[in-house]
Amino acid sequence: MSSIFSMEGKCVIVTGGAGNLLTPTISQMLMLGAKVAVADILEPRYDQMPDEFADNLFYKKCDAYNTSQIKGFVDFAIQKMGKINVLVNGATFGAGYGAHATPDIMTDEEWERGLAGSVGVVFKFTRECLPSLKQNGGSIVNFSSMYGHVSPDYKMYGESGYNNPCNYGAGKAGVSQFTRYCAGNYGRFGIRVNDVTPGPFPAEDHVKANPDFGKELAKRTMLGRYGDHPEIAGAVIYLASDASTFTTGSNLVVDGGWTAW
Ligand SMILES: NC(=O)c1ccc[n+]([C@@H]2O[C@H](COP(=O)([O-])OP(=O)(O)OC[C@H]3O[C@@H](n4cnc5c(N)ncnc54)[C@H](O)[C@@H]3O)[C@@H](O)[C@H]2O)c1
Repeated sequence: MSSIFSMEGKCVIVTGGAGNLLTPTISQMLMLGAKVAVADILEPRYDQMPDEFADNLFYKKCDAYNTSQIKGFVDFAIQKMGKINVLVNGATFGAGYGAHATPDIMTDEEWERGLAGSVGVVFKFTRECLPSLKQNGGSIVNFSSMYGHVSPDYKMYGESGYNNPCNYGAGKAGVSQFTRYCAGNYGRFGIRVNDVTPGPFPAEDHVKANPDFGKELAKRTMLGRYGDHPEIAGAVIYLASDASTFTTGSNLVVDGGWTAW
């Protein structure tokens, strides 16, 4: 008998798989038996992957907003893994970051790039994977953000330079709605669609460069600390695996309580 969290037989595409949150998630998926194809502009962090499952990890450079590259990547993933039955949409990029990321000064180009890098990448990768997912059934896990659900408090960010621009939160709110829309349309094909909403999981170099900012983030969660990157893995694996076969159209919040005060 295998665990309901087993990833045996799961052929997973992970966009943004070279990043902070998806690296430990992929490592756990491999240990649970998955095959994983990483779509990122950067190589996966091979040094953080379990050696014994190296043959189940595949990489091809892919810009998650470039339709022809996505099509090429999906073909590559099917060729390497045989099929796709899980898509994890984690890639993100943006524009307008900084101390003045507000609508009064944001340009058209910044606005559009931010939407492309938050919700646009999710739309495009989902569209290109749907033909394969419709054949096999499966699970899509999208990455939203607490800032797609609540607003950043400008008083906290000050001049740190880490302010989320308004296009990021608008796009991430869009990810949650796109998730519900897809869940409603593709459930009849055996495709479940959910999102995870991470709270504060700052990059190590941001916190090191600005310890006061790290303390401020920690203070605002109910647990009094910010998240460690591996703490997102359980939520993604729950939604990707057969542990969640009756869960669709939902949003799993992993934020130490930030949005629940
Ligand atoms: N870290 C947090 O605190 C936090 C909070 C809320 C939501 N999130 C969301 O979680 C997800 C993962 O975040 P993270 O902290 O690991 O970010 P990260 O910056 O470490 O990783 C993002 C990855 O996306 C890749 N990427 C950028 N542009 C790309 C493109 N055009 N095509 C393909 N890949 C591209 C990067 O190379 C990187 O590997 C993101 O969607 C992010 O918005 C993170």
